[in-house]
Amino acid sequence: MVDGAVRRGIAHLIRPDLREHVEYEPIEPVEVLAARLGVPAERIVKLDGNENLYGPSPRVREALAAHDGYHIYPDPDQRRLRAALADYVGVPEDHIVAGSGSDELIDLIARALLSPGDAVIDLTPTFGMYVFTASVCGGRTVSVARRPDFSVDVEAVARAVDQRTKIIFAASPNNPSGNRLSRRELDALLELSVLVVLDEAYVEFSGGSHAGLVPERENLVVLRTFSKWAGLAGVRAGYGIMPPELAQALMAIKPPYNVNVPAEVAVLASLDDREALQANVRRIIEERERLLGLLRRVPYLEPWASEANFILCRVTRGSARDLRDRLRERGIFLRYFGRPGLEDCIRVSVGRPEHSDALLAALAEVAP
Ligand SMILES: Cc1ncc(COP(=O)(O)O)c(C=O)c1O
Repeated sequence: MVDGAVRRGIAHLIRPDLREHVEYEPIEPVEVLAARLGVPAERIVKLDGNENLYGPSPRVREALAAHDGYHIYPDPDQRRLRAALADYVGVPEDHIVAGSGSDELIDLIARALLSPGDAVIDLTPTFGMYVFTASVCGGRTVSVARRPDFSVDVEAVARAVDQRTKIIFAASPNNPSGNRLSRRELDALLELSVLVVLDEAYVEFSGGSHAGLVPERENLVVLRTFSKWAGLAGVRAGYGIMPPELAQALMAIKPPYNVNVPAEVAVLASLDDREALQANVRRIIEERERLLGLLRRVPYLEPWASEANFILCRVTRGSARDLRDRLRERGIFLRYFGRPGLEDCIRVSVGRPEHSDALLAALAEVAP
């Protein structure tokens, strides 16, 4: 240290506005959960992350093993990937940008649009990354509450839009409520002349994507992912469908190699095996309906119908947090949020039939 210099650390160099930033509350890895319980990882029933417990296509493993180019950087222009995604979605390639999960698209859009003090609107309760990302980018989040049935109060959204509003984030199906935005609601949001980011992470479980509308609208972005329907959450592969001028802006600001080579290989192999993956999606939908019926019979739960791969339940007796903890002791992991409006709720991801059966048995054991 230079004589007389005072040690100040580096905290003062970090952006002051980030002191207020609330960290994303992540879910814990299976190995950590298993080690804490002292059981093998295979015994964990992991229904807390909306992952696809059928896993990826076997062709993904084969393609990853066979690929011979991991020493070469990926294509910064994402040519093969964008062409394959354009073909899959049915829109021209210049509308597509791929990312390391759809989370990265949320981040790129926020970075491209938000100046300090600009606002985004999110429709609570909803996916936590919108408020997180706006905060990291120096933006403000204006939260507009959904109605008790989780539909969007479009008039309240219209009242919340002001000169500094840049983006409305709308997940459809919404996480954690599982309901969709109607076409009428989407049209009303698009009338508000700000960017509408329609997050369709779970659309394969509901059908009715609005991606095909993007070329006709100047302020619509649709986000999609391979994490849910294709079982690639660990690989990190998502994409956005957007007006070409926004796609150009995101391509210009993204890290050049944002989608790594294994992710590209895995996406292309998944698209080649889409029928098998869609068969898994159908299994999950079937299991969702069976699980909904079973949960309806649990006397202290009130589940909501869902169009995604999870079911939100109100806990009507005892505390939702205690329920989460007691199931956890039995190796069954669900999501509890503890956020305003969701304090008495848990969210159950839909796994395979044996996971639902294990959950139901444990729910009977821990009944308050
Ligand atoms: C609504 C919503 N959007 C996006 C994501 C993130 O997807 P990805 O894994 O592609 O980053 C999730 C993940 O749970 C989600 O619930």
